Amino acid sequence: MLNRFCSALAKIFSSVLRIGHDGREPVTGAAYQDRNWPVEERVEDLLRHMKLDEKLEMMAAPKPIWSIMGGSKAFETSENRRLGIPPFRMCTMSGSRGASLKATAFPVAMARGASWDRDLEHRVHGAIGLEATGFGMNLFLSPVLTIVRHPGMGRAQETYGEDTFHLGEMGVSAITGLQQHLPAQMKHYALNSIEENRYKIDIQLDERTLREIYLPHYRKGVERAKVASVMTAYNKVNGTYASENEHLLQDILKGEWGFDGFVMSDWVDGVNSTVAAANNGLDIEMPIAKHFRKAKLNKAFLAGEISEATIDDINRRILRRKFEWGHFDGVKDVPRSVVKSPEHRALALEAARESMTLLENRNRTLPLDRNAIRHLVVVGPSADKIRLGDLGSSQVRDDGPDAVSPLQGIRNAAGDASVDYYADLSPPRAQEAMSAADAVVVIASLGAYDEGEWIQQFKYIFPGRGGDRRDLSLRAEDVDVIRRATASSDKVIVVIQAGSAVTVADWVDEAEAVLMAWYPGVKGGLAIGETLFGDNNPSGKTPLSWPVSEAQLYEFGSRKPSVVYDFFQGYRYYDARGLEPQYPFGHGLSYTSFEYSDLSVHVELRGEGQTIAAAFAVKNSGSVFGKEVVQLYVGYVNSAARRAVRDLRGFEKIGLQPGESRRVTIEVPADELRYWDTEAGGWVFEEIEYRIDVGASSRDIRLAASLRF
Ligand code: BGC
Repeated sequence: MLNRFCSALAKIFSSVLRIGHDGREPVTGAAYQDRNWPVEERVEDLLRHMKLDEKLEMMAAPKPIWSIMGGSKAFETSENRRLGIPPFRMCTMSGSRGASLKATAFPVAMARGASWDRDLEHRVHGAIGLEATGFGMNLFLSPVLTIVRHPGMGRAQETYGEDTFHLGEMGVSAITGLQQHLPAQMKHYALNSIEENRYKIDIQLDERTLREIYLPHYRKGVERAKVASVMTAYNKVNGTYASENEHLLQDILKGEWGFDGFVMSDWVDGVNSTVAAANNGLDIEMPIAKHFRKAKLNKAFLAGEISEATIDDINRRILRRKFEWGHFDGVKDVPRSVVKSPEHRALALEAARESMTLLENRNRTLPLDRNAIRHLVVVGPSADKIRLGDLGSSQVRDDGPDAVSPLQGIRNAAGDASVDYYADLSPPRAQEAMSAADAVVVIASLGAYDEGEWIQQFKYIFPGRGGDRRDLSLRAEDVDVIRRATASSDKVIVVIQAGSAVTVADWVDEAEAVLMAWYPGVKGGLAIGETLFGDNNPSGKTPLSWPVSEAQLYEFGSRKPSVVYDFFQGYRYYDARGLEPQYPFGHGLSYTSFEYSDLSVHVELRGEGQTIAAAFAVKNSGSVFGKEVVQLYVGYVNSAARRAVRDLRGFEKIGLQPGESRRVTIEVPADELRYWDTEAGGWVFEEIEYRIDVGASSRDIRLAASLRF
């Protein structure tokens, strides 16, 4: 009620604030107003009607607006009433977990990354997009397409994993899902994989590492998904802020990839200059005009530092998207009832099921047999809490009465078995109960305090500390619970909720099973219960490598002024060094087993280019329905360049009934096999022998073949 009153008041207030344009006459009957005209002609016609100051205004959000969308602060870029140019409307608290504070909380993106399910990601981001339009947004600040170089990255939960191919595929699904409803903004371009020093850190890397590891997923966002807009990163790349980085923005994004949409800054302190930013490719400053204030831009224009051609190019990009998306033709009237609809609650549950990742299962401890289990004990201080993720800009506060905690979910699935819960293990009866139980489930969770976006400016408003992980282990109190549980029972199952990998080596040998639930969303508890009892056969595969210890990894650099990113990161690093990770990239167990056979590979012509077609059979050789993520990696024999042992270049998720077999074909375009030759400044395709490895993880290769071009 209070919200609605404030919103109404705010609307009146903001319309009073929007003063006109020096008494200039409103434009009527112009060609650009005719929706039947082609977009590019409407853009050019409108540009002819715009005065310089009107063009400069488009480059920022000059006045704050005072309204709320989905429980979160709304922001608008400039509008122009004389010319009828509408603003972009978006909101601060929105991202890959849900449309806004009051939206459906889906499992975090990292969980969905573990699902390896392109179609699911398309539908989840479709639902997020629909809810966003239900709140009134017409631009959405997602997805995050950042490589998790180190599992300590605070915002790892907002992205999909450590591998560029997998990230690109999930990103394309996310963007096309969102863009069924409204324009998407992929972020944070580029190299934004450290949180605590994000405003200043300088990421240094060579051109080959940039081109092959850190950029291809963004390229897919532009070329395949046709993303509408791009958000820059706060950090520097090779000494220059991403928001004024000519190489990233002009040469590569807008030049080589032909991106014709607009580039927006990250929020508050995301822009560091006026002239360099405008000339090097930034189009809009958010959330308020600071470096892109009209007066500053005008001064730079009069001094000849920013040309009219540049200002026109910026406006063209903004207007093009507004015309393409029908923003001139009125506001989309999407009913509020799309928000938290029963379909979206069901989708959140489906996504949680698909992302459950079974890391260990000794002696077939899981699934628990409802007929055999009489007495189950659940322990851990977070078991009865709803853990949705961090308290940064992607937070969603969907913890109302229908949100399901792990404890509730387990009780729901346990049938007639009795389920006792001990948050605290100090009472002697807790210890006794664990000793007497048929099985003990420990819920061990990280939360907003341990990892997440680091919003320095708001540290008093948002109590969550967030930031990068201080270390990679679980909370000490949870490790203590695990230790006590394993001392009392030989059937201990550990369920972890976190946004990225944790180190488990200290205790894992004592536990019988480990289920990674990530932050599983509003219905996550149900999926956890169903998975423990076998109603859901887990099919998640970790989209990042889990180190045995932090010492096994390269330096994170979270609190340093600069850090060098090497070519070998993630599984490529473990492979190149011959290291054994705790759990390799792509690993995840099932309650059934899969047999791979009959790999055949050959080269086919596809239009202009060549493609490797790899076909093989997969059979469910167990006794229950299950889904397998089949992964295709490519290795290089006698390459002139230093290559990874293997690179992921294809995957499919398939569901098979017991005994069922299916032939799967995965195609790898020859372009995906090229390397970047830094000296020549271009991509090189080698006519060498390529090894095709097909398997169930990056270290569980079941079939191999090779071929030459
Ligand atoms: C984040 C962005 C977000 C923006 C608006 C920034 O702090 O880095 O990802 O879209 O805030 O909330």
